[in-house]
Amino acid sequence: MTPPVTLRVVRPGTPQASASQDAAHSDFARDMLAALASRPRSISPKYFYDAAGSAYFDAICELPEYYPTRTEVAILRSNAAAIASHIGPHAELLEFGAGSLHKVRLLLDAMDRPAGFVPIDISGEHLTQAAHALAQAYPGLLVQPLVADYTQQLVLPEPSAAGKRVGFFPGSTIGNFNHDEALAFLRMACHALRGGALLLGADLVKDPAILHAAYNDAQGVTAAFNLNLLTRANRELQADFDVSKFFHSAFYNAPLRRIEMHLVSRCWQQVHVCGQHFEFEEGQSLHTESSYKFTMASMRALAQQAGFEPGQVWTDSQQRFSLHWLMAPR
Ligand code: AVJ
Repeated sequence: MTPPVTLRVVRPGTPQASASQDAAHSDFARDMLAALASRPRSISPKYFYDAAGSAYFDAICELPEYYPTRTEVAILRSNAAAIASHIGPHAELLEFGAGSLHKVRLLLDAMDRPAGFVPIDISGEHLTQAAHALAQAYPGLLVQPLVADYTQQLVLPEPSAAGKRVGFFPGSTIGNFNHDEALAFLRMACHALRGGALLLGADLVKDPAILHAAYNDAQGVTAAFNLNLLTRANRELQADFDVSKFFHSAFYNAPLRRIEMHLVSRCWQQVHVCGQHFEFEEGQSLHTESSYKFTMASMRALAQQAGFEPGQVWTDSQQRFSLHWLMAPR
């Protein structure tokens, strides 16, 4: 395994990207201050994933109510051979938002002589550990982790392999983006993967009761995951949130086809972040995540709008989750 490459992003207004950890930290400060100053208050869910947040997320994936992970894994397992034949021999795999790298093993196990694997994640520490474990499990495989924020413009090295370059974006992480952000991400991916394809996981519109339960688990793990954002801010942004004075709220916004997660203030209160002072009214919220749900057709239309040629879709018997093969023209 080669050590993680530093952030290579081109960000308007930033002359030179600094080291990834510093950049991620100052981005958090800037975005949290901007969120608290705006109405309604809203911040990107990418800040959930510090070490504790990543561990909470891994626990969410094991919850009985949280169907997306196990459904997507089941779809990957049942269709591994077909997916591998779409990918073809000697392909280079790129995973966006790499996380703990469990799902990609199902692809690597089924693939014909994979040439390399590039996991890309904003969380450097988590990525390095997961990439190391993967490289040990796949001795011949070239693993080149890339610490980067893929919501920004990604600059990738030219494809090295003889086979295709194939992107993997599982988990319905695409659902965290609003329409314009999803389009921008897919356009970037379509360009980066030209001549290859993207395997994209998308959670599907379904009975709101099933959706509601998935984000309001009985053990309160999702609540802890959400509230951890405030703990992270206390540690990293010299903030003084009293976590016990906020509660987790998650509901399905049917007209917008999205789950919304909020942190709601239980009372009037004051907080300080990076030396600045803010007030929360009782019931005032910080919107921390949107998780958009798709129909097969809406996902295909979005991908097509971004320049992809939508191909095969794999799903489960209850049509809870979908995996899309999206071809990126040369
Ligand atoms: C990682 C964005 C796919 O939206 O379901 C899980 C994150 N939030 N429970 C999702 C999440 C609350 C998850 N994604």
